[in-house]
Amino acid sequence: MRDRIVLVTGASSGIGEAVCREAARRGARVVMVARRTAELARISGEIRRSGGTADWIGADLTDEDDVRRLLDELHRRHGHIDILVSNAGSGWYGPVWEMSWDSAQSLIELNIVATARLALALLPEMVAARRGHLIVIGSIAGSLPAQGIAIYAATKAFLESYCRSVYRETRRTGVAVSLVKPGAVVTPFFDAARRDGGRRIPFSGRGLSAQHVARRVVGLMGWPRRQIYIPFYLRLVPLVEMLFGWVLDRLGPIALHRKKSVPDIHPTHLLGRRRLMTHYHDI
Ligand SMILES: NC(=O)c1ccc[n+]([C@@H]2O[C@H](COP(=O)([O-])OP(=O)(O)OC[C@H]3O[C@@H](n4cnc5c(N)ncnc54)[C@H](OP(=O)(O)O)[C@@H]3O)[C@@H](O)[C@H]2O)c1
Repeated sequence: MRDRIVLVTGASSGIGEAVCREAARRGARVVMVARRTAELARISGEIRRSGGTADWIGADLTDEDDVRRLLDELHRRHGHIDILVSNAGSGWYGPVWEMSWDSAQSLIELNIVATARLALALLPEMVAARRGHLIVIGSIAGSLPAQGIAIYAATKAFLESYCRSVYRETRRTGVAVSLVKPGAVVTPFFDAARRDGGRRIPFSGRGLSAQHVARRVVGLMGWPRRQIYIPFYLRLVPLVEMLFGWVLDRLGPIALHRKKSVPDIHPTHLLGRRRLMTHYHDI
């Protein structure tokens, strides 16, 4: 890790902030990117005061002019980037027909376009130098298209497919590609998902700590792997979707239309009221 230049997007809070602190603690030179420059200045100041190296560049990754300025600044100040942690991302919770196109578009532009854009800008140099690492923060939602997160889950599924392809393309080039698939993590993400008419995500405030996720992400920098699930047992989720997707089909609308976070599930919801009544009648 020592002296490796690590670019982290979405570094002003949550997982990105924790990755910056952890990577800097292990000797990396961290470059932080997000829109809230006051937060970036505060966090990078704290990292420097505790003996680490951190720089920051304010940019809105959904704005092409900002991205171009960011890339110019990166070249001017740092030259080569060793590791890109593409973490900036946002969500929105609720029925997709209640979502405005502006919200959907900015989600797609941040979660998909910004990741593809930065990777395309930095990969050529990494491949030419035969070293580098692209780490993308996906989500377990990419394998579990649950109710209320149609656009978000689809953006994370895109990242999953994208990372798998790029991983296969970059084999034997010296460049590593890793996808991180966390479950729920306690960060301001849940509040951000309520903006623009989004609903409260069930079980908000419960989940892993950002520090725990950050330790796993920074661990990847020393031991790259194609994909990790956090916690590890979430690797069963694609199997759950395949085998029990029909249960989720039935639970989905119930969970989404309830105001309370924990759905109160009655067996009639699962079996279908008429079938269950017939069954009782037969008995
Ligand atoms: N929290 C969870 O349960 C969870 C679970 C699985 C995956 N994830 C993924 O983890 C990643 C980080 O999320 P988090 O939980 O740490 O949430 P967070 O605390 O809300 O962090 C999101 C980060 O993205 C930045 N960002 C948002 N819009 C941006 C834009 N237009 N341009 C540049 N930066 C932007 C934010 O900074 P500014 O507002 O300062 O720009 C912030 O630093 C996301 O990709 C998310 O999908 C989260």
